[in-house]
Amino acid sequence: MRKPIIAGNWKMHKTIKEAVEFVNEVKDKINNTDVEAVICAPFTMLTELKKATEGTNIKLAAQNMHFEENGAFTGEVSPLMLKEIGIDYVVIGHSERRQYFNETDETVNKKTLKAIEHNIMPIVCVGETLEERETDKTKDVVKVQVEEAFKSVSSEDAKKVVIAYEPVWAIGTGKTASSKDANDVIGYIREVIKNIYSEDVSEEVRIQYGGSVKPSNVEEIMNEDDIDGALVGGASLNPADYVELVNF
Ligand code: G3P
Repeated sequence: MRKPIIAGNWKMHKTIKEAVEFVNEVKDKINNTDVEAVICAPFTMLTELKKATEGTNIKLAAQNMHFEENGAFTGEVSPLMLKEIGIDYVVIGHSERRQYFNETDETVNKKTLKAIEHNIMPIVCVGETLEERETDKTKDVVKVQVEEAFKSVSSEDAKKVVIAYEPVWAIGTGKTASSKDANDVIGYIREVIKNIYSEDVSEEVRIQYGGSVKPSNVEEIMNEDDIDGALVGGASLNPADYVELVNF
């Protein structure tokens, strides 16, 4: 049985004070231990959030990391730095990093391997653009992204990786993929994993949907067989909405 995982991706929002206040407001309301609750926060607040989430059901994720452990990479953050502060997950290959910061399938793979090496669980983002959707390329696109991300990842390690299917055209637009459509693509991604590894691995990998998820649609999305969670942007910034999302 795959444990559902609901992750809030705060992107570039909140001060440290606001972040700690958020955790203090929600931590006692997140008591559904059958669902994994994650906050993906900016680097600047992770240390304070680690303290604030101690003893709670909330796990922490970074929103990116470099694939080298140290070096002349101005502005970057190393997996060793994230490990030092006890970060559980790291988002890799978010479409905004692919679009604005030259993230490629190759760097996604390097980061995935490095995260696994340091026992930080990757949340690997894949998804098609509107143009790719409208020209029926969705499954071709996500197939390549998944195959490239998992290059040299062992079967055992692959089971630990979370995949987030985020159609780019649904991110921040209020346009949510229908739950049936999201489930169809996620089911296809599961097939791609099965063809790379085995049915055993494909049945264990958790695959989230992301793209305008909110309290009003999370239950319908989570009722789909192949969908194991959600990666939520805008709606996760509000404490009450985050609680509703995690307690769907
Ligand atoms: O990583 C999740 C994010 O891309 C989705 O954003 O605002 O559409 O929930 P949003």
